[in-house]
Amino acid sequence: MRLSTIFIISLILLFFASCTKKTEFSANFDNTHDRIWVGKDFWSVPLEDWKVEDGRLHCVGTVPNSRVNLLTRVLSPGAGNFEASVKISLKEKGNVPGSAGLLVGLYDEEDPDVRAACYFGKGVNAGISLQGFAFLNDERANLPEDFDFSEVLISVSGNNNQLKLKVADKNGNSPDELSLNVEGIQGLIAAANNIILGGNEKPGNSLFSFDELKLSGSKVIAQPENAFGTVLWTMHTLSKGTVKMMALLPPVGENDNQQVSLQLNENGNWKTVATEQIEPDSRTAVFKLENWDSTKDTEYRVEYIEKGKDGAEMPDYYEGTIRKDPVDRPLKFGGLTCQYHYGFPYTPLVQNLTKLNPDILYFSGDQIYEGNGGYPIKREPADVSILSYLGKYYMFGWAFGDLMRDVPTICTPDDHDVFHGNLWGEGGIAKPGGAGSSDTRGFMQSAEMVNVVNQTQCAQLPDPYDPTPIEQGMSVWYTDLTYGRVSFAIITDRIFKTGPEAVSDWEGRHDHMKEPREDLSFLDKPGVEMIGERQTKFLNDWVTDWEETDMKVLLSQTVFANVATHHGTYDGYLYGDLDSGAWPKSGRDNVIRLMRKVAAFHVNGDQHVPSLVQYGIDDFQDAGWSFCTPAIAVGYQRWFRPDELGVPATDRPEHGYPNTGKYTDAFGNKNLVYAIGNPGTITSDKESRYNQALLRSSGFGCITFNQTERTILIDAWRFKADVENPNPVRDQFPRWPKQISQFDNLGVGAENVLPEISVNQPNQVMQIWNEKTGDLTQIYRIKGNTVQPKLFESGTFTVIIGENKRREAITGLKTQKGKNPEKVLVEL
Ligand SMILES: [Fe+2]
Repeated sequence: MRLSTIFIISLILLFFASCTKKTEFSANFDNTHDRIWVGKDFWSVPLEDWKVEDGRLHCVGTVPNSRVNLLTRVLSPGAGNFEASVKISLKEKGNVPGSAGLLVGLYDEEDPDVRAACYFGKGVNAGISLQGFAFLNDERANLPEDFDFSEVLISVSGNNNQLKLKVADKNGNSPDELSLNVEGIQGLIAAANNIILGGNEKPGNSLFSFDELKLSGSKVIAQPENAFGTVLWTMHTLSKGTVKMMALLPPVGENDNQQVSLQLNENGNWKTVATEQIEPDSRTAVFKLENWDSTKDTEYRVEYIEKGKDGAEMPDYYEGTIRKDPVDRPLKFGGLTCQYHYGFPYTPLVQNLTKLNPDILYFSGDQIYEGNGGYPIKREPADVSILSYLGKYYMFGWAFGDLMRDVPTICTPDDHDVFHGNLWGEGGIAKPGGAGSSDTRGFMQSAEMVNVVNQTQCAQLPDPYDPTPIEQGMSVWYTDLTYGRVSFAIITDRIFKTGPEAVSDWEGRHDHMKEPREDLSFLDKPGVEMIGERQTKFLNDWVTDWEETDMKVLLSQTVFANVATHHGTYDGYLYGDLDSGAWPKSGRDNVIRLMRKVAAFHVNGDQHVPSLVQYGIDDFQDAGWSFCTPAIAVGYQRWFRPDELGVPATDRPEHGYPNTGKYTDAFGNKNLVYAIGNPGTITSDKESRYNQALLRSSGFGCITFNQTERTILIDAWRFKADVENPNPVRDQFPRWPKQISQFDNLGVGAENVLPEISVNQPNQVMQIWNEKTGDLTQIYRIKGNTVQPKLFESGTFTVIIGENKRREAITGLKTQKGKNPEKVLVEL
């Protein structure tokens, strides 16, 4: 090709590129249906305090610095000029005069990501105050006497050295032009209501509407990839031949399209396989595809056709992959919990998780905190509380959506997700006396709101084991999922749990036991529940299901042990926490006993201090292992420091790390704390949000289940780890990684030995039944051909080997203490 031809082609390409990446931006909202969600070019904070109505953008809430960020056109750091403008109208004065205008150059020094700028960006304030002045940061000019707030044009122009503010009402009345010297400017612009002006001035509670938002100039660059929506994100699971896929939509309007379609790529063609209505409360659409071919990757896309007021159709696609079921290699499981917003959008952590390329994700709870986004929750009425929740929950999807688009995701709500500091749900009852005390039973929020939380977090899970609603018509989601030959039981350890006031007989908070007590029996009176009858029935069923399964794992929110001695502050000693899964002990023992039958491993979160614990029931280490994963970003802090308290952990593991070893918690549970990821004494960094996350023991867990070797490799990565070139001290918490055998979850110390059983077929399911009691003692898949079971009970047992029709039962097998020389041969 001749050079001139290349030149011409380049010119043409450049022309088209500049057409598709048009930098000039203008929005008048005239073609947008009335709705709360502004559109995919924008992100409003708080979500519920903004709406589009009659072709204008309205602020309807009084949170200071309430804003609508423009996402898809940003100010570049480079040289050039720009002009940003907006038309504002005063709608309600309120009783404290407020302001409105533009935030210009919103940029977060910690993280250049647009999502960070939306919540943490600092920029220049430009606008007018009802107190009678125009402002450009601290520069002020008085407004003319007869200034008309019913229609005001605000325009900021400038470059990297200087900004200018022009203001004019509809009659052309203007204050003096303001100018401000700057040292560079970059980032987002946002329309803002009740701007925080610094000093002692109150931001006010006036309400404005906004229109004709414009941004242009050579400093402006188009970043269409910053758009959020229309499909915000998806979550899906694949289990037992069924795909469940949830698309999460923003609050679109009544007159917007209410249908969402799921399409699959079949040999290069997109084929619609299902169309669903958006569920109006949760704004979700859920697709269920049965008889799924799980042996190959399948590309999917969710289609939403946005329709303008003029009928124009704007199709929007959200694409991802439903991966093949990884049955033939180790399963990499990402364990995550607790997203306190100062760490948002958790970029170092998300990048690390992406590099590790997990096969499945588990978000065990606290996908939101009440303060996330930097503004308060709204508890009522129900529809407002739902939007309040959704705005905060969308931050989770924005941060982790790119991972979840291709990775099956288990997500379960915990207390903060339903606006609780702590939760003892007692089967879904309303909190007697309503919101207020966070140390007693019952839900503060309406069942309507809780059901939206359940739907938006769990609708992609396999169908619930028993969908019968609990009290108040509250939905349930406990279920099981099999993926990569690992079977997960997904339960709640909060929603059925009894409130602490049932047992507390002390002064002060019902959930805080401040002193040791000689007799602990009062803590465990009859009727005090942990996971409840319904979930116990489910688990009893789950333990018997070994189809396509080599290993079993229990997923719940918190650790069944009190592995924290200090709370809140470094010196905040607390003896016993009834919010921990250590209480009630009998309920806790029963679950751990059920787990032990199947050598199940426990993954949980909630605590904000990572721990690796081997549970004990009657004695130390006689049950399975638990991994409480690090919090994504720790807000409330906990430490486990028994060494300082004169009740040191004993029998320290070989590694000799402090605050590890055998430890009996306040409720009498005997736990071996193998590893603990305590934060230090310095836990805040005002300069760096991400460094603060690191200081507070934030991070995530990664667990590799090797179905062939039957091993469990447990990693606990720090928030800013280098997962590609890991240094064990810098990048993982102390004494991680740790590998255990699946069979370590049977516990140690069982002395009643059955005969050695050899089977002619490898990897068979073995059931051991107590002939006297009729109870199932153990059930798991043998590794290889030979096993010699050890039990915690003596007696005569029936052992059944094999699955389905290929089974052999051997009756009358007797245990012997310590050793059993007998051998049994099984032919299948
Ligand atoms: Fe939490």
